[in-house]
Amino acid sequence: MNRTEGRVKVTGLATYAAEYPVENVAYAYAVQAQIAKGRVKRVDGTAALEQPGVLAVLSCEAAPRLSGDADPELALFQSREVAYRGQIVAAVVADTYEIARAAAAAVRVDYDADDHDVRLSADHPGLYQPETVNPDLPSETQKGDVEEGLARAERSVDVTYRTPVLHNNPMEPHAALASWDTEGRLLVYDTSQGVTASRATIAQTLGLPPEQVRVVARHVGGGFGSKGTTRPQAILAALASRMVGRPVKIVLTRQQMFDVTGYRTPTIQRVRLGVDAEGRLTALEHMAYEQSSTLVEFAEQTSTPSRVMYAAPALRTGHRLVRLDVATPSWMRAPGECPGMYALESAMDELAYAAGLDPVELRVRNDPETEPDSGLPFSSRNLVGCLREGAHRFGWEHRDPTPGIRREGEWLIGTGVAASTYPTRRWPSQAVVTTRDGDFLVQLAAADIGTGARTVLARIAAGVLGVAPERVHVELGDSDLPQAPLAGGSMGTASWGTAVVRACEELMRDGKEGRADTTEEIKADAKLARHAFGAQFAQVRVSSVTGEIRVSRLLGVFAAGRIVDATLARSQFLGGMTMGLGMALMEETVTDEEFGGFLHRDLAQYHVPACADAQHVEAVWLDERDDRLNPMGSKGIGEIGIVGTAAAIGNAVHHATGHRIRELPITPAKILALRP
Ligand code: MOS
Repeated sequence: MNRTEGRVKVTGLATYAAEYPVENVAYAYAVQAQIAKGRVKRVDGTAALEQPGVLAVLSCEAAPRLSGDADPELALFQSREVAYRGQIVAAVVADTYEIARAAAAAVRVDYDADDHDVRLSADHPGLYQPETVNPDLPSETQKGDVEEGLARAERSVDVTYRTPVLHNNPMEPHAALASWDTEGRLLVYDTSQGVTASRATIAQTLGLPPEQVRVVARHVGGGFGSKGTTRPQAILAALASRMVGRPVKIVLTRQQMFDVTGYRTPTIQRVRLGVDAEGRLTALEHMAYEQSSTLVEFAEQTSTPSRVMYAAPALRTGHRLVRLDVATPSWMRAPGECPGMYALESAMDELAYAAGLDPVELRVRNDPETEPDSGLPFSSRNLVGCLREGAHRFGWEHRDPTPGIRREGEWLIGTGVAASTYPTRRWPSQAVVTTRDGDFLVQLAAADIGTGARTVLARIAAGVLGVAPERVHVELGDSDLPQAPLAGGSMGTASWGTAVVRACEELMRDGKEGRADTTEEIKADAKLARHAFGAQFAQVRVSSVTGEIRVSRLLGVFAAGRIVDATLARSQFLGGMTMGLGMALMEETVTDEEFGGFLHRDLAQYHVPACADAQHVEAVWLDERDDRLNPMGSKGIGEIGIVGTAAAIGNAVHHATGHRIRELPITPAKILALRP
């Protein structure tokens, strides 16, 4: 289907958080810490307040009190402590955006600076083992004896990979528009991946009962995780509005987004693999070293995909974390699986070369019967099908595995493969469906962050009701609607779709209205290993003159349950794969070791793929329907597309050049440095 909101989007009528027309609106602009660690000694807002049009200066010296148990990233102006460079320490509210921004530059903040530490290393003395990793998984797992497995291996690899800080760059910047009514009810137009959760967080932060807060996010211009948790702009708008008694709007600049909307933790990952003479793994060990802030423990689940992928009698995965003077990392498309599978799937390619095996064959030979770590049966698993179908479509059988031999003029050509995986879960959700003028109205507080959620839910409802999708209208993005979970963790369609199906079934019985709450249904789910799988194939051309790398072909084959809508699903897969291409070759946020914070803070320095970079990206899928997951038989598709892409491209670069670059991104500079 075409997106139901396509017309309002392309005609500019779709309203985003900062675009709601509000009378008498004022504007807020944030002042950010210029030190990486220490205390705010004094805030002098005199010069700012003297400027005509300035209404207020907020800081730790002048701001409403927030609840004591607020998330420290959201507890704006509640403390003098500075935890990272770029943290919001003050804000100016003014009649116009321009005045607020100019006055913010006139706010003088004096600090007591301490020495800071922003450098992740695998031997950092502060490394520790977190109790759990996200979402709530054991940080360490062990089965069998890895040392013994490696000792009896015919061939083995012991390799370390590094991934940099990465940032989400949604087109719509983080923005909020807040106002209080005369009864003390707060309305926040926020850019959010989930208004139910955001309402709870905003209410808790401000110490309000949730009924007193309404969050609206009808259209969201991308999130990828950066809008999955409430971000400071929502709290700042609410506080500023309360202080000046007017609606307040705030739009973060692209540079500010790099500082306060989260990022993918950098990782250092050591993978040790052993294989016997038959090409079966004897041991798999995957250890991840990553960072969090001093404010919050965010422990990314980096090595967890290694608990799912391959049959190995000895299997150990673990995580080590160090708390640095940095902003708290957060979600970025496929947190955990994406960087983790980069390391595992690069190491599998290295092992294939070490053992003289075809990399597709090595994976097929080690496909497990049950989930390796838990021993649970898979609800469905068709990685082998994806590898075979991809190999066939890609022409893999014609590949000479010898690296560095295929050349066209200055261009070295190579191909590579990697697997993809992503968990497929669902959360409880509510939904209501009613009849309206002969049509149907579906209502729930779901989020459409550009994925086509509205459209797919209309299609799911229409399927149950037995009517054309055009007769189903979906209303979402408002916390006053029935509660619904986030657009996150690739769980949106499965979670909301289940509630919509149940509500429609109820309407079919009742005739007028159907209401559903899937809490009990989901509680009764059987214990199964639930994952989607995929295989990605890449062809690269590497210039031996300039080091330029072009991905001339990228093919993804996915086994992701029933595909509810082909057009929308293809967009998700292609978007994920293109983002994976960015991770492989371009994306990197450099940390400023001297001053803290980040050196790359805009799209001139942080490169994301443009159309010309995505030369030939294809996504296809196998016929799969998994009725043990949800009534649609579907699996999540929002994130799996980015998983494995970087490894496939890195493996292709090795095949083209004969060199392994184990530190992302693989830039021309790194290629040129390989020259003897
Ligand atoms: Mo996505 S990182 O699950 O919002």
